[in-house]
Amino acid sequence: MADPNKGIHQYHAGVADGLQFHSPAVVGALEFDHNEVPPLDAAVLLIRSLPWIRGTVVTAAALVALLLASATAGAQARHPVSGRAIAQVMGYEGAAWLERPERESEERPSKAIKALDIKPGQVVADVGAGSGYYTVRLAERVGPTGRVFATDIQPEMLSLLRSRVSRARLDNVELVLSADADPRLPEGLFDLVLMVDVYHELARPQEVLRKLRASLKPDGRLVLVEFRKENAWVPIREEHKMSVKEARMELEAEGYRFDRVIGVLPWQHILVFRR
Ligand SMILES: C[S@@+](CC[C@H](N)C(=O)[O-])C[C@H]1O[C@@H](n2cnc3c(N)ncnc32)[C@H](O)[C@@H]1O
Repeated sequence: MADPNKGIHQYHAGVADGLQFHSPAVVGALEFDHNEVPPLDAAVLLIRSLPWIRGTVVTAAALVALLLASATAGAQARHPVSGRAIAQVMGYEGAAWLERPERESEERPSKAIKALDIKPGQVVADVGAGSGYYTVRLAERVGPTGRVFATDIQPEMLSLLRSRVSRARLDNVELVLSADADPRLPEGLFDLVLMVDVYHELARPQEVLRKLRASLKPDGRLVLVEFRKENAWVPIREEHKMSVKEARMELEAEGYRFDRVIGVLPWQHILVFRR
């Protein structure tokens, strides 16, 4: 389960490896567009606005954050099949990072959505939907005859998502509060189960994969979008990346069939599996 007190994960490896951030002293009075985003999200904006994010100056705030990080480092488990270190869950305080305006130019999510080739009327699960960045785009794709189930383990994320869905006036989205080991989705319903930047932080990946496999239609797809571990220059911390090899080892061990990697994104793999 996510621990909100873990604070904000600064994903950009160039900033500080292992950085976590929950010092109210450096949050300041910044405001974020989405009123319902918790105040700590302001810290993300502050971090991103500081010069040291570009690797030049290390500020006192960064040092404080580094100290906090070292105090919590080493808490991760490893995946029993691949040996991969399982990342900590990104706390809801990081939602502003998910919603950053430059996400489109950096990650090209619109290309990812296009590559998924979703048809009107399909039923899609956005597992680990966070604040709903992908959910609303998926809902537009499936249209009024389709449905999107958006899940998360953090009620705070679902609350952001609810506001977002209502602002967008979408009535084809259902929210689901998942558990670490159980997505709590119906069986045999889904054409597509999507996890964007989520799989690497599942605390109980094997149990989740087993349940998700049962949720797919016989010809359904499970798609992971994960930052590429093969490319050291991809500016995300190591444990928030996955290699194709790791993903295949872990998913094939749960009975999934590897279909292909779609390589259209600048930083991420789109990994397609069949049930
Ligand atoms: C890095 S965020 C990505 C959010 C969203 N997919 C996006 O790309 O904007 C990862 C999300 O996965 C959620 N998460 C982690 N473990 C989960 C689990 N077992 N089931 C559902 N959601 C989970 C976290 O709470 C967090 O909101």
